[in-house]
Amino acid sequence: MSRFAEPQDPAFRALNASISFDIRLAPYDVAQSRAHARMLARCGVIAAEEAAELERGLEAVCEELDAGRFEVRPDDEDVHMAIERRLTEIVGPVGGKLHTARSRNDQVATDVAMFTRDRARAASELVGTLMGTLADLAERHLEWAMPAYTHLQRAQPVYLSHHLLAWLWKLQRDRRRFGFCLEATSELPLGAGALAGVNFATDRRYLASELGFDRPAENSIDAVSSRDFVLDYLSAAATCATHLSQLGSELVLWSSEELGFCELADAFASGSSIMPQKKNPDAAELLRAKAPRIAGHLVALHGVLHGLPLTYNKDLQEDKEHLFDAADTLELCLAAADGMLRGTRFRRERMAAAASDELLAATDLADLLVRRGVPFRESHAIVAGLVRAALERGVALSQLGEEDLRTLAPALAPSDIAGVLRQGAPLESKVSEGGTALVRVREQLAHARAELAGHGR
Ligand code: ARG
Repeated sequence: MSRFAEPQDPAFRALNASISFDIRLAPYDVAQSRAHARMLARCGVIAAEEAAELERGLEAVCEELDAGRFEVRPDDEDVHMAIERRLTEIVGPVGGKLHTARSRNDQVATDVAMFTRDRARAASELVGTLMGTLADLAERHLEWAMPAYTHLQRAQPVYLSHHLLAWLWKLQRDRRRFGFCLEATSELPLGAGALAGVNFATDRRYLASELGFDRPAENSIDAVSSRDFVLDYLSAAATCATHLSQLGSELVLWSSEELGFCELADAFASGSSIMPQKKNPDAAELLRAKAPRIAGHLVALHGVLHGLPLTYNKDLQEDKEHLFDAADTLELCLAAADGMLRGTRFRRERMAAAASDELLAATDLADLLVRRGVPFRESHAIVAGLVRAALERGVALSQLGEEDLRTLAPALAPSDIAGVLRQGAPLESKVSEGGTALVRVREQLAHARAELAGHGR
């Protein structure tokens, strides 16, 4: 008997069905159903033999899924119904006992939490691998000078190691965000029933420990209506993808003929269908362009969730495709970023040539005057005058004549300028904590290694 006198309209059926995408949750759904059947028997809600039958049937379903033999039927609305339907075909009417003390509302929240937990772990591991690659690269390029930029204008010289480690710290914060997301998936929704709890004294603590959760969710209404952990995952993923897009963007610039700071491995570049000479940094460009897609999923889920009255609403079904696509996209980007960086060859001479631009030491010259008691604002103006004179005459700072110095910067002798411009001086003078002086970079690298080994500060 059905409550409905009419069959579903095909358009409604197509709109309503989630099986085409939530079939991906099947392994989690089977795992939680097995735990649920055992729990029902332990609590005396069903007989031990019935639970054994259910487990046997679920094992068979699991094998079909693993072997790609599981058949989805046209009227399977979602993964939960499909698995129960198949289970009942295998074990007979006892299959109908599995849904005792459970609703699809707590069931789907549990599947999605388990999926999110696995994806947060996977992302965290991939981020860790990428951090390790960056630490190795920093170690191999410790003393390579390069210009650093603001507004994409040459600003001050830094070591390549320092720049590479900047990416590492961004990723380290991403890893923490995924750690937070893991914590957010630690409360078990299952046992909340439709929304109010269930009419049996079930053992939710047993379920939690069987399914890898820390504890049952405190409130059944909250449990079936919350997708906070998906927002947390998407938020961590969006920030991480934004970092990867910045990295991609820099590699596009650095590998350009104009900068020529690096060359990407052939395995991570592509050619042109018309211009035979081309080697394009497509992977780096795609890292740049995938980030808004992931951020879009985050914004979309906020849109789905905002203003929803408690508790379950079918709107919640729209969490999955955003989550799935974000996880797939992010994991692919992380793997590609790692492979691309591993294969990148940096070009020391090109970086060094750009870093030797004397104008990059202008701040250092101003600071020399500061040491002699000139207020920084004044020394800034004095050096700006020198820079302007050098640019007008088309010479380097060190080529300004004594006459220029006498009128523009009487406190500075040519030897002062030469001292500040001495090779490496502007780098090695950046001794403040977190600065680019080699001692500081080595210190930073040690902290990064400790962080990677799991005992960061
Ligand atoms: N396919 C649904 C989803 O993804 C499962 C839960 C359905 N619950 C319900 N009361 N209709 O959210």
